[in-house]
Amino acid sequence: MSESTDRKIRAGVIGVGWAGEQHLIGYSTADDVEIVGLAGMEPDRLELLGDRYGAELRFADWEQLLAEGDLDVVSICTPTALHGPMAIAALNAGVHVLSEKPMAENADVARAMVDAARANDRVLDVLFNHRRGGQVKALKKIIDQGILGNIYYAKAGWLRRSGIPGLGSWFTKMATAGGGPMMDIGVHMLDMAMHLLNEPRVTTVSAATYAEFGPRGRGGAGGLAGAKSGGSGAVDFEVEDLSTAFMRLDTGSTLLLETSWASWIPHDLIYVNVYGSEGGATLELGGAPATYTKLDVWTEVAGVPAELQPDIPASGGHTEAVQDFLVLVRSGDWEQHRGEMGLSRSVVVDACYASAQKGAEVTVD
Ligand SMILES: NC(=O)c1ccc[n+]([C@@H]2O[C@H](COP(=O)([O-])OP(=O)(O)OC[C@H]3O[C@@H](n4cnc5c(N)ncnc54)[C@H](O)[C@@H]3O)[C@@H](O)[C@H]2O)c1
Repeated sequence: MSESTDRKIRAGVIGVGWAGEQHLIGYSTADDVEIVGLAGMEPDRLELLGDRYGAELRFADWEQLLAEGDLDVVSICTPTALHGPMAIAALNAGVHVLSEKPMAENADVARAMVDAARANDRVLDVLFNHRRGGQVKALKKIIDQGILGNIYYAKAGWLRRSGIPGLGSWFTKMATAGGGPMMDIGVHMLDMAMHLLNEPRVTTVSAATYAEFGPRGRGGAGGLAGAKSGGSGAVDFEVEDLSTAFMRLDTGSTLLLETSWASWIPHDLIYVNVYGSEGGATLELGGAPATYTKLDVWTEVAGVPAELQPDIPASGGHTEAVQDFLVLVRSGDWEQHRGEMGLSRSVVVDACYASAQKGAEVTVD
């Protein structure tokens, strides 16, 4: 990146699926950003998004975008196992990187990304949009104010009834995704829980994984009982479709994290429950389709049981995350922003899979 401040920040986006467009929306809100180019394998999407967000350069080959874009920042919104090679190439080219979650298919790759950010003195940020929900922000404020006392136990989950993304696509293959719902949506809830609990360290994990629907071609858009396209249903499905993990934290507290892409439940549910010495809270987003969001907080005021109704700030999502990334890039103060937080999530996700494979609790290094 040129360090001169007299030009707009030149942004590129690699990957033009749903996630890629969210980053483009984020960049398009910033006056001092020029969206320079896109890379992706779908010519129609490249044209559509290129026209919609004013990106002149459009490539199938992401390396061409890095070579010709003269980029300052790049978003990486591709299948998970491409985040590592793309981020490292961009960092080595002097470009700040905003990677989609999960950071990488495993912690070794995530660690190599952090090393590249440090070696090149660039920002590496991993986008976790769900922690930016209004209810989450409100709950975080309540916890930080000490209203709930010591949080000694928390439960977090993202359970889908029939939501395997792209059955048979990159999402369900080990080499490209690195894992199933724990890797894909569990990592959001892990991030949310760690954020709410003020970044404790996970010391041990005992986890189990199951694949009851995916291997039969069930649990995607066709539903739990129906096969993918009315046939026998067998598809390439190499990951889990449900995982559950019990974690011990260095604070002495514990966290239960459950996640599924497919399960016999009445409707999808995203939740966090926190149990504190002076109060508790339940945060829920659920329904089919999502019909309600709620944050309930119970405590005691002047010796009387009380239910609090906190103000809920606006949700920030991808746009807020992109804006915060740009603030970091502009600040020049990058020392604490080399992707360490994303790496810490990858370390825990790895430990979950290791524990499930071993059938026993594992220590997290
Ligand atoms: N934060 C969120 O809420 C959220 C939501 C969905 C997806 N994601 C993450 O975003 C990433 C992408 O997910 P998606 O749902 O948009 O996937 P997708 O399959 O819809 O899009 C992937 C994009 O990557 C491009 N791509 C693949 N290989 C490429 C290559 N070699 N060179 C250039 N482009 C290439 C494809 O052409 C496509 O445009 C994943 O890591 C996923 O976990 C995050």
